[in-house]
Amino acid sequence: MASLQEQILPYEQEINSFNPANAADLEQFRIRFLGTKGIVKLLANEMKNVPPEGRREAGMLLNSFKQLAEGRYEQFAHLKDEGNANAAAIDTSLPGAPLPIGTRHPLRIVENRIVDIFSKIGFSVATGPEIEDDWHNFTSLNMPENHTARDMQDTFYVAQNPDWVLRTHTSSVQARILETTPLPVRVICPGRVYRNETISARAHCFFHQFEGLYVDKNVSFADLKQTLYYFVTEMFGPDTKVRFRPSYFPFTEPSAEMDISCTVCGGSGCSLCKHTGWVEILGCGMVHPNLLRNFGIDPEVYSGFAFGMGVERITQIKYQVNDLRLYSQNDVRFLRQFQGL
Ligand code: PHE
Repeated sequence: MASLQEQILPYEQEINSFNPANAADLEQFRIRFLGTKGIVKLLANEMKNVPPEGRREAGMLLNSFKQLAEGRYEQFAHLKDEGNANAAAIDTSLPGAPLPIGTRHPLRIVENRIVDIFSKIGFSVATGPEIEDDWHNFTSLNMPENHTARDMQDTFYVAQNPDWVLRTHTSSVQARILETTPLPVRVICPGRVYRNETISARAHCFFHQFEGLYVDKNVSFADLKQTLYYFVTEMFGPDTKVRFRPSYFPFTEPSAEMDISCTVCGGSGCSLCKHTGWVEILGCGMVHPNLLRNFGIDPEVYSGFAFGMGVERITQIKYQVNDLRLYSQNDVRFLRQFQGL
């Protein structure tokens, strides 16, 4: 039987003189030498007939033969692409596979819009922790322990004695600002808040708030009204009317709730305004003197206003979303409707 070297020799010549004209020639070459039943494999199978002392040398021979065949193949690999292009296997003029692009969440769209509106009149954005201590969420805001005002904002307790809660409003951020920032302050506080409520179309155990605070010398209720009127005009258009109703919040005195004329029916009565022509959008008032004292601010010298609204509520009115749960269900059929806003 011919030695391995003798067997390889004519193949080597064949490989060296191989000069394919096209991809089909190249493919034939691959099958003949490098395929699963190709010559390289066949010769490798013969290794078992080589006596042990000659195996090392035979292995090296076979290896360099294989590299020769592979090298020659690679040298002409460009033919494969040309072959494909010629056969129009790839039509580079076809549009690419579409990459789905997400949309901004409606609550984020509205929050960004509110930030824009208040930034224009000098409010800066402040944020704070969602897990809050009792002092910043309740006590410092004139809601002492066991005060009935706390009933309006039951929440989830993360720890007790001392109490840590999921914040019920972003007024807690206002408390932190008053504690650390020199006066005057003019901030808006967007963020997620929590309440212990049964989930329905009209209530949820979490929602998003947007609160504002302005403390300086000579801040009056007229400033509060004008600021909110400006906000409503920017957000809902110049024809929107505004009214204030007296209300109660522990952290403001006097306190009010603000309604706007119904943006859906224009005041003639519909389901959004429950046929009253008005929709409630926020709570507000003059910062309670006790609260200023809690932060070492003299209420004889300084005064301020605060307001707070639910971003879900503003979004509901603006885009007529009638079920709160839609905001957190991640249903793309709902979310896609806000594309491009
Ligand atoms: N923090 C109040 C709430 O969550 C809203 C509010 C803020 C009311 C500021 C008045 C002034 O209900």
